[in-house]
Amino acid sequence: MIEVRGLVHVYPDGTRAVDGVHLRIGDGEQIAIIGQNGSGKSTLVRHFNGLLRPTLGDVLIDGQLTAGLRVAALAANVGLAFQDPDRQIFAGQVRTEVAFGPHNLGLRSAALETAVTKALDAVGLTEQGERNPYDLGFSNRKLLALASILAMGTPTVVLDEPTTGQDLRGVERVRRIVADLAAAGRTVVAISHDMRFVAEAFPRVVVMRAGRVILDGTPGEVFAEANWGALAGTYVEPQLASRVGVRLGLGSTPTDAALIEALVKRPG
Ligand SMILES: Nc1ncnc2c1ncn2[C@@H]1O[C@H](COP(=O)(O)OP(=O)(O)OP(=O)(O)O)[C@@H](O)[C@H]1O
Ligand SMILES: [Mg+2]
Repeated sequence: MIEVRGLVHVYPDGTRAVDGVHLRIGDGEQIAIIGQNGSGKSTLVRHFNGLLRPTLGDVLIDGQLTAGLRVAALAANVGLAFQDPDRQIFAGQVRTEVAFGPHNLGLRSAALETAVTKALDAVGLTEQGERNPYDLGFSNRKLLALASILAMGTPTVVLDEPTTGQDLRGVERVRRIVADLAAAGRTVVAISHDMRFVAEAFPRVVVMRAGRVILDGTPGEVFAEANWGALAGTYVEPQLASRVGVRLGLGSTPTDAALIEALVKRPG
């Protein structure tokens, strides 16, 4: 369980990136965080694994204040895949990179090899195991950063824009990873600008604007017509399916099949 109470984060240059966030994320929940560039999404989640410490307010992991926990203890609970993979990747070989986190958590020999192999399989990088991460393209470095976090097997997984740079197959991989984590009862927090991914893969959506949470609910609730103004205020546009679904009386999260059927049957 992650509990954020009145969190404020001011960077050394005076930027008030998070400005009073209250949020409770239950065990085994999958939530997406959306909102305009610079609204504080990454700053917020960097508090979950102790990468950043609150300027004001508290973050609790399983009832324990992060302020009192060492980074190592936090890392065992919360794995965070960075928005920019190049700030995360440091090893000269893909497998070494993926092994680093689980090795730090105490995994050795066969257990370590299995964790690395499974994580590379999940992101489709099995064949690239011996390569230098910097010989991979951006989308694969993004998947490598994700694999490094998966290999740690933390109860909570935080993904900062996991679908950035991914083609359809990459997005599908990420969706399957989220679904598998969900099925295993793990908590997933993902930041994304891909509204389709958000609406289809997450039962809960949190919307941020200027360092605060302005909406929090199911995709159906958050993307409902009554919120379109608030969403526009943080430069979020509900996916076309949501907008058309509302017009056709199918609600804001119609399936493609329902949408197509309604459009085909529409008189005129
Ligand atoms: N290290 C830093 N020092 C100073 N200001 C920062 C730092 N990192 C982020 N900021 C600023 O804090 C604010 C929030 O940034 P943050 O990266 O949390 O937003 P975000 O919602 O993740 O944006 P994006 O969608 O572009 O990733 C922005 O104004 C940003 O410029
Ligand atoms: Mg960000």
